[in-house]
This record gives sequence, structure tokens and C-alpha cells, in this order.
Amino acid sequence: MPLEVDVLTLFPPMVEGPLAESIPARIQEHGIATVRVHDLRHWGLGRHRTVDDYTYGGGAGMVLRVDVVAAALAELRRPDTTVVLLDPGGEVFCQPIAHELAQASHLVFLCPRYEGVDERVRAMCDRELSIGDYVLTGGELAALVVIDAVIRLLPGAIDEASTAEESFSGGLLEYPQYTRPPEFGGVGVPPVLVSGHHEQVRRWRLRESLRRTLERRPDLLAGRPLSGEEERLLAEVRAESRPRDA
Ligand code: ADE
Repeated sequence: MPLEVDVLTLFPPMVEGPLAESIPARIQEHGIATVRVHDLRHWGLGRHRTVDDYTYGGGAGMVLRVDVVAAALAELRRPDTTVVLLDPGGEVFCQPIAHELAQASHLVFLCPRYEGVDERVRAMCDRELSIGDYVLTGGELAALVVIDAVIRLLPGAIDEASTAEESFSGGLLEYPQYTRPPEFGGVGVPPVLVSGHHEQVRRWRLRESLRRTLERRPDLLAGRPLSGEEERLLAEVRAESRPRDA
């Protein structure tokens, strides 16, 4: 069964464009996921198909109306649906959440514009996600980020070995990779990678993953249990980075 995704937005082309290219397009062509994009104005009120209104109490900007969202969700929601609201105040999206969402059968993404949503909309949503601590002009780009990260995890979407080994899946950053030419601008390729020793290559990659994570994202290491081998390799990396004769 494909993962079914519905996106509610005031700007459907913003969402449709990126999903019609490259791997997201292929995932849909292969029937692994189906993404439908809906214009929220379809459920808008009156002759002008109004979807937003002034905020009670005064203040700048317009707020997405709860009745409009309720009408849209009444049409799209099924018993197995997870409704995701994109909001800078939501839980910060990360790879484990992508894996969770990839288990769902039906996802609805609600993309507010303007100054956000009527507070009563939140009770209609199963989760609120932010893609980071910055403010976008609307939820569309955030929904695309989440959809892209989720659909590539679906069985058959891309080479499964690459999703298993990549940055974050093992809780570490990815090891350095090289391709031809073997030397460029005086910089060569680590000899172990062309040695043909699979076990040495595996150990080198694990050590370099640990080194990169220690240097760039020590917070990831702090929250992750280490195997005996990882402990030993990390000790080696730490010893190398310690200044000698200090
Ligand atoms: N809408 C505006 N900014 C956002 C963010 N950082 N994440 C999710 N939705 C948003």
C-alpha cells in the first residue's frame, strides 16, 4: 500500500513543483507514495472563498479560520490519518520523526500562511512540527522538507543500504567519501579506501564517522550509547586530536 499524503495550502504550485522533480517524482511514479495537493480556498467562505480573518484582540496579520480547516479535514480525514500542522512553535523535526511518519498510511499536512492559525485548529492536529528555529513565510517549504525526508525512507524508494548508512540513521554523521580522480590539486584519497581490505575500510569509516561527529556535533555523541569498538575508536580519535607535549 502506498503512503498517501494530502497537503492543504493556499499556494499549491509551491508544493507541487519540487515534488514533480527527481527522486520525489520517481517515488510517486512507482506508486510508493501518492501526494495530493489541495487549495484551502476550496473550503473558503462566501463569494471570495475567504480562509483567514483578523485576530481577536487586535494586532497585525490574518489568522487561518478554524471552520475552514475543519471543513477541509472533515473531507480528508480517515481513521488512520495523522494530521501534521507546520508551525515554528512545533516539535523540531529530525530523522527519528521521519522514520515514525514513514510508518503511517495517511498523512495530512496543514500549511498555514500569514500569522498562523486560530488556536482551536491545534486540537484538530495530531502533531505540530517545526523544521528549525527560524520563521518562514508559511508552512509549504517546511511541509516539503518533511515529505521529502519521509518518502525517501519508504520501502523501494531508494537503495536501502544508503538510508541505513547515511548521516543520522546510526546517530552519527556520515564518513568522508571520495571518487575519481585519485588526486586533485595535490590532495589524494586515503590509501585504505583503495586497498581492497573490506574490514579495514569498515573500521576506517566508523572511525571517521566518530571523528566528524565529535568535531561537528558532539551533542549527537552525548545522547548515544557506544559499542566497545566505537569506544576504542573514539579514544583513538581523541588521542590524535590532543596536542602532544602540551
Ligand atoms: N512556518 C513558519 N516557519 C516554520 C518553521 N520553521 N517550521 C515549520 N513551519 C513553519
